[in-house]
Amino acid sequence: MIRLALVCTLMLIPITGQARNVAEIYSEMCASCHGIKLEGGSTPSLLVTDTIQTTDELSLVRTILDGQVEKGMPPFRGALDKAEARALVVYLREAHAKARHQPARAVEHDATLYQSREHQFRIETVIGGLNEPWSICWLPDGRILVTEKPGYLRIINDGELDPKPIAGTPDVFSGGQGGLLEIAPHPEYAKNGWLYLAYSDPVKNSLGRVASMTKIVRGRIRDHRWVEEQAIWQAPPETYLRGRVHFGCRIAFDQDNYLFFTHGDRGRQNMAQDLALPNGKIYRLHDDGRIPKDNPFVNHPDALPAIWSYGHRNQQGLTFEPNTGQLWSTEHGPRGGDELNLIGRARNYGWPVITYGINYNGTPITELTVKDGLEQPVVYWTPSPAVCGIDFYTGTQFPAWSGNLFVTALAGQHLRRVVIANGKVTEQEVLLQDIGRVRDVATGPAGALYLLLNRPGKIIRLLNED
Ligand code: HEC
Repeated sequence: MIRLALVCTLMLIPITGQARNVAEIYSEMCASCHGIKLEGGSTPSLLVTDTIQTTDELSLVRTILDGQVEKGMPPFRGALDKAEARALVVYLREAHAKARHQPARAVEHDATLYQSREHQFRIETVIGGLNEPWSICWLPDGRILVTEKPGYLRIINDGELDPKPIAGTPDVFSGGQGGLLEIAPHPEYAKNGWLYLAYSDPVKNSLGRVASMTKIVRGRIRDHRWVEEQAIWQAPPETYLRGRVHFGCRIAFDQDNYLFFTHGDRGRQNMAQDLALPNGKIYRLHDDGRIPKDNPFVNHPDALPAIWSYGHRNQQGLTFEPNTGQLWSTEHGPRGGDELNLIGRARNYGWPVITYGINYNGTPITELTVKDGLEQPVVYWTPSPAVCGIDFYTGTQFPAWSGNLFVTALAGQHLRRVVIANGKVTEQEVLLQDIGRVRDVATGPAGALYLLLNRPGKIIRLLNED
């Protein structure tokens, strides 16, 4: 008996222990009818319409598991579990988007002029020669400050890049997704001169190896030097990690000058659910780093008291909506699971318990997309554009875009306009497709829309040409 049980256990291991790759499942079970690229075969092509993108994912999962027998789509319940059916939805949406991919078209007679739904605009290079620019802001005198990920803070004065970076900025861990990331001026910068930086802070452990974690400091610039630096927030030293991904690092101030910032899960997904650990959280602080007494978890014995919300993966965009004061965040999800979230006090955004995405290697993460007590994204995107910096348009140059949210995309290489009304997304438009990896977007002082492109590193802007 013992021997038999052992044999059974061994035989079961390959079946239960190995998650199947979604591309293999598709080519084995679906391609014969739907075609290798959804182009059709014995079935009509799935590319003719957009139903794969527009049908809700639960209905698609049901079609795959229960079939549409009257139309000739066989049921796959038994052969596939729910998590695998969900992975197939991600796969179908990716294949559909790839096949229907259309680059942005400039107006025929002019390669820098583009027509969008609401405005005609021109693209102009502001400055080139940057090294992985990450974040941009303006000083009251019109000068631009821009961070470069390898660790430099640079000034652009009247269209000229100062050849020397600001001296004395913090040492950063530069590698993977880490480096000198965010810069944000204090809302009352003109009075107090404070600038805030978010970056990957390196420490050496006892073996001489470098571990790092997100850190926030503030300082001032005087005579081209970073001076009077103060630490605003730092993770407990024992929580620093050697991984090179998911630092988060966006900063936003609300109308009362509270500072909010994002901290990614650092590649340790389960830590995003643990309130005692810094990973996968959004934080709220006073502008000098003190912890507000009315923060949601201050009386929770095991929680880090600065936490505002949790269950995040890698939140690369964070901004307040000017009219409503609501806080929005874009989150790099797993493959097929990028999100736009409306951030609320003490809320749990579910990572990794629920997600619309799958692992990058094509295996499922979970069958759950919804669970009581966990927040749903306002929208999610499949395939993942790799959403990054965001900004609400507040200028007057593009009146029809006023109050729209602009979302950048790294892998998707585009700029997306998202129309929001009462906390819901009512319209989306991809404005520029295939312009390179877009890291950040910001409304400039004269109402032009500025974009940071990763490689080759440059700043471009959109100017109204109606
Ligand atoms: C024996 C042929 C066959 C196989 C195998 C097959 N399908 Fe289908 N499938 C169909 C037919 C036929 C339809 C209905 C097409 C229509 O409505 O015009 C369909 C419809 C669908 C739809 C609904 C499309 C829509 O626009 O609503 C989805 C999703 C789908 N199949 C996914 C799959 C997946 C995933 C697999 C593999 C696990 C698969 N199918 C395997 C024949 C097949």
